[in-house]
Amino acid sequence: MPTWEELKESCLNCQNCRLAETRTNVVFGVGSETSPILFIGEGPGEQEDLKGEPFVGRAGKLLDQMLGIIGLDRSKVYIANIVKCRPPQNRDPLPEEQEACIGYLRAQTALLRPKLIVCLGRIAAMKIISPTFKISADHGKWFDRAGVRMMALYHPAALLRDPRRKEETLPDLYAIEEELKKIGFYD
Ligand code: URA
Repeated sequence: MPTWEELKESCLNCQNCRLAETRTNVVFGVGSETSPILFIGEGPGEQEDLKGEPFVGRAGKLLDQMLGIIGLDRSKVYIANIVKCRPPQNRDPLPEEQEACIGYLRAQTALLRPKLIVCLGRIAAMKIISPTFKISADHGKWFDRAGVRMMALYHPAALLRDPRRKEETLPDLYAIEEELKKIGFYD
């Protein structure tokens, strides 16, 4: 198994798919390498591509607020994406781009060994939880896989587009808080 540094180094030099041709920066991931909770987004947008950091645009500000509601911040969680390079015009990452990149996320997950995984939006939930995942019906539900509890939230960008869904997201956040309490996260 690579170390975090070795993994990051190989990811930053990745040429596995065409997104390498148009990226400014690879967005590897940020946060605590010992956190029990991993948040997974879809892929970098414009601001993330420019900075090399996940969730630094408008959706990222909302994610920070969502984390704050349950006493979390970026230093206490780990945040990564399904694809590490920005898809042009922020289109959905293609299945082959997701496949070319998923090894990095798997390796990050193997190093982190999180107890909880929270997918941000439908693309991440379909890749990580189930290909038939329906975000409107299945957000906030726990799925247990090999000792890891997983759920999906609406993507913060979707909440910005349709603020009515924010109300539905609150109970999901409190469900995450409950699980974190159970594992002594706040002690
Ligand atoms: N949206 C995502 O899914 N990931 C990011 O890093 C930023 C926006």
